[in-house]
Amino acid sequence: MCGIVGYIGNQQACPILLDGMSKLEYRGYDSAGIAVYDGKRIDIEKCVGRLQALRIKIQGHEPQGTVGIGHTRWATHGRPSDRNAHPHCDESGRFVVVHNGIIENYLELKEYLLEKGHRFSSDTDTEVVAHLMADQYDGDFLSTVKKVIRRIDGSYSLVFLCADEPDKLITTKKDNPLVIGLGEGENFIASDIPAIIGHTRRTYIMSDGEIAIVTKDAVRVEDLNGNPINKKVYNVTWNAEAAEKGGFEHFMLKEIYEQPKAVRETMRGRLGKEEGTIDFPELNWTKADLRGIKKVFIVACGTAYHAGLVGKYYLEKFARIPVETDIASEFRYRDPLVDSSCLMIVISQSGETSDTLAALREAKRLGARTMAVTNVVGSSIAREADQVVYTYAGPEIAVASTKAYTTQLIVMLMLGIYVGRLRGELSDELARTLTRDLREIPEQIHAMLEDTEQIKIFAKRYGSSENAFFLGRSLDYFVALEGALKLKEISYIHAEAYAAGELKHGTLALVVEGLPVIVLATQADVYPKTISNLKEVKAREAEVIAIALQGDREIDKVADHVIYVPKTDKFLAPILAVLPLQLLAYYAALTRGCDVDKPRNLAKSVTVE
Ligand code: F6R
Repeated sequence: MCGIVGYIGNQQACPILLDGMSKLEYRGYDSAGIAVYDGKRIDIEKCVGRLQALRIKIQGHEPQGTVGIGHTRWATHGRPSDRNAHPHCDESGRFVVVHNGIIENYLELKEYLLEKGHRFSSDTDTEVVAHLMADQYDGDFLSTVKKVIRRIDGSYSLVFLCADEPDKLITTKKDNPLVIGLGEGENFIASDIPAIIGHTRRTYIMSDGEIAIVTKDAVRVEDLNGNPINKKVYNVTWNAEAAEKGGFEHFMLKEIYEQPKAVRETMRGRLGKEEGTIDFPELNWTKADLRGIKKVFIVACGTAYHAGLVGKYYLEKFARIPVETDIASEFRYRDPLVDSSCLMIVISQSGETSDTLAALREAKRLGARTMAVTNVVGSSIAREADQVVYTYAGPEIAVASTKAYTTQLIVMLMLGIYVGRLRGELSDELARTLTRDLREIPEQIHAMLEDTEQIKIFAKRYGSSENAFFLGRSLDYFVALEGALKLKEISYIHAEAYAAGELKHGTLALVVEGLPVIVLATQADVYPKTISNLKEVKAREAEVIAIALQGDREIDKVADHVIYVPKTDKFLAPILAVLPLQLLAYYAALTRGCDVDKPRNLAKSVTVE
């Protein structure tokens, strides 16, 4: 999520770090900082805002030295601020660290360190690592790093600098990217290739559990037990722009492919150890709190609103609380019946959407309790809501929302289970099935993204159509809405989503020969009805692409084409069923030569009404 750079060599580190960080700003951009060893001590400079703010701050007194580390931040723990910006150090300033990821057990470690008298100067999980280094220090940098790694849980790429051994940087990773750039008399570390591609194309791609000891003349890689690891040199052949997109042609495609990792991050620390349990440490709700809630409102815009519709279904089904959903721009002007017995949940990737923010303020004014589901730590919506649940999807750059949506679905499902259990409305058995199936989701998404040939063929075949319909019932209808939005916003094909049963109340008049109709059929309880609707459009000679669960033996007899998604519980099907629709939109847009990442007339963050 954040960007990391390290340098050790004969040149001044500061300009190299800043240059590398500028190539990583797409990974995070709410604050930035560098640390350089100046011959006596480690000089740390950092500030909130984009990298440019740091450049201005240090202009004329740039830290001098030939070894250093840098970081561009995308906040996960602690809002964007000077004090929460990386690098972080222990109180003596001996150990400095930059980190990308989440230290799951940081609260427990922080408590332990506080008891031992450590004083913290930030709200981050990362600072705990620097203090733990000081706590565990045995006079040897490498052995201390290893002791610390043994004590931390979570996901991370970490780079350590130690004032006592400034001839080296030590770096390691788990579930986060990390590369070492191999130079002549100098070496580089980065969370992503774009940061170093201007200096070298010879790299080591680090794997989980590997520790690299990087000096200016050598890079040694070993495991936690000191066993040497023989790394293969990987020669980067992409250009800088492609590297920024991780080798993908567009950010949208990159973000689609980031979904296994993104949903894993959303679930991290929340899926309880005991099957069937969900933990939201940030909520701390009691049964009494929930008993006081008579009604829930879920309010959002666009894709986030579609996630809200699914969320309503989950909360009503699992927790038996009445839920109203609203488009944010409508909610605020309709004089809603909201009072202190209501809970208002707003969903927003950016946390800055002006209508959603206004709806949140309106609900607060009317006395409701409020909660935000957002991706951007410290965003306006996150700051103003009483409670926040972060999706941890990482920065989403493409205008069309993909990984933000799937992670919102995961949060809403987990919330449904959490509230359902607290209210005693969800059976243990169903809760267990749901959490068990949730654990499978990242791997199932991964498998689906491995095989996209069929979707590319459909995109070519139907890419020249001017109209398309998306149909579904129950949860499938909400996914249809999202599929249609994706298609229209990036390919400019006119797409409409309908609750399948609604078609014959007027819209069927538009169904003509050759019209592509995407029918979602993953919901067993309404399956026969959906098939009847499918037949209705087939009878008008539309071309039907069905999205169905693997193992469905009926569907290929009635649809022209079928895209199968891995078998899962019907409640989780939306998380998988949306993937082919995202890809279909993407490849259709490519076929039509559209600007996928920046569709006409649209902006990523809608901060005007
Ligand atoms: C569509 C899309 C938009 C956003 C909407 C809300 O792909 O991205 O519909 O979902 O503008 O934005 P956030 O979630 O930032 O409030």
